[in-house]
Amino acid sequence: MPSIVIFGASGDLTSRKLIPALYRLYRKKRLPTDTNIIGFSRTEFTDEAWRTQLAETTKKFAGKDFDDKLWTEFAAKIFYQRGDLNNDAAFSVLRDKLGELEGRKPTGRIYYLATSPQFYLEAVERLGSSGLSVESEGATRRVVIEKPFGEDLASAHALNDDIHKVFRERQVYRIDHYLGKETVQNMLVLRFANSIFEPLWNRNYIDHVQITAAEEVKVGRRAGYYDTAGVMRDMFQNHLLQLLTITAMEAPSRFEADYVRNEKVKVLQAIRCMTADEVAKSTLRAQYQGYRDEPGVAPETQTPTFAVAKLHVDNWRWQGVPFYLRSGKAMSCRTTQIVIQFRDPPHMLFANEKNKRRKVDANRLVIHIQPAEGIQIHFQTKVPDAGMNMRSTTLDFRFDSEFAGTMPDGYERLLLDVMTGDASLFARADEVELAWGIVDPIMQGWSEHNEPPMAEYQPGMWGPDEAIYWMGRDDRHWFDVCPELEKSPG
Ligand code: BG6
Repeated sequence: MPSIVIFGASGDLTSRKLIPALYRLYRKKRLPTDTNIIGFSRTEFTDEAWRTQLAETTKKFAGKDFDDKLWTEFAAKIFYQRGDLNNDAAFSVLRDKLGELEGRKPTGRIYYLATSPQFYLEAVERLGSSGLSVESEGATRRVVIEKPFGEDLASAHALNDDIHKVFRERQVYRIDHYLGKETVQNMLVLRFANSIFEPLWNRNYIDHVQITAAEEVKVGRRAGYYDTAGVMRDMFQNHLLQLLTITAMEAPSRFEADYVRNEKVKVLQAIRCMTADEVAKSTLRAQYQGYRDEPGVAPETQTPTFAVAKLHVDNWRWQGVPFYLRSGKAMSCRTTQIVIQFRDPPHMLFANEKNKRRKVDANRLVIHIQPAEGIQIHFQTKVPDAGMNMRSTTLDFRFDSEFAGTMPDGYERLLLDVMTGDASLFARADEVELAWGIVDPIMQGWSEHNEPPMAEYQPGMWGPDEAIYWMGRDDRHWFDVCPELEKSPG
């Protein structure tokens, strides 16, 4: 799969993620030898100038994987073409350039839209009108589209319709980099390559599920985008709902794109949409203190930087098991985790005069998506030489102590999958639209009814105090533990 055209080549995503991922694939000898990478954007660069700039950024982002000699070999595959997405002539030049690089052999191409979302449609239309989307024997044409895919259901639906005028669905790869994470894929392995979890994975044993994506960073230099999106569009519609579907889905009968995506779609279809009343009760939103003073943020902004939502999956497996989703910026630490909270034991056998009233912590399975990637099982153990006293203890699996080498970046796996034409870890048109259908009523409830009102939290906390009381109303509590980054020896 030899030509990769990156639109939006001078942007952050290209230098921070795409080129380092392609470089690492090259280093691991996974990139086909005849690959060409063509950057396309408005900034003026020669091939050489772009390569020099990418060498600097890749050195920074690929860290110790960077090797001067390998880079020089890899950089010979990189080219640049200046152009405007709304200019037909630029696409003709691109077509000629591709022809020149590829020679006469039929060659597959990937068009990667790393532009700002308002240009997706323009890029797709021009690819269509210039004939660059047409496939022939041995010459596949695939388009990769970054998030955010639309800003609500209506715009996502319109975008899908317009894309389908140029590309068939099987040519479209809507990327969610969370699905490229090893630990997210491991969730599929945990559930579907082991037999001990499945019998417990339902309403009979699970009390509730918590999915948290907490970030320590603030909005930084991204206010221009973030203040129009907020945490619901930025994290819930895509990453958190993807984590939910992988946690809740049935086992597909084959690990193939449509089999996997059909099961994820069924989960999204089963999620109960909220009425305005439910939004007021089942969600919370907040801004970190100082958000409104960040450069580029509107002074009266109502954009939340933190939110929680209680979702119900209305099917046999999950009836009555709430899924609590939570995400925020400027929180205590960076952690993405899925907590499967099991039910209390039905009868407390070891209660005595002293601990009769004490409720023990029920079993918990904690899946650490990042950092400190791993899985923990929490269970009660007898304290030695202390009667029948018990304590919560942990079985701890960590990728870094079990496997050598560093965890690959999600983009490596996803780029390879596009090259081989495996769309299992990409969102299908219906999936993206269903996800918007869940998020839209929440956003509407917030903006039209102003309910629940915007709360505030101090940076460095687990969100506002309201989130603690809110969970307390369900007689539950958040599992707020920052991951241990250094594994203690032994
Ligand atoms: C992006 C969001 O999709 O995911 C960012 O736009 C967020 O706001 C990022 O910081 C988080 O990704 P990761 O891989 O660092 O968890």
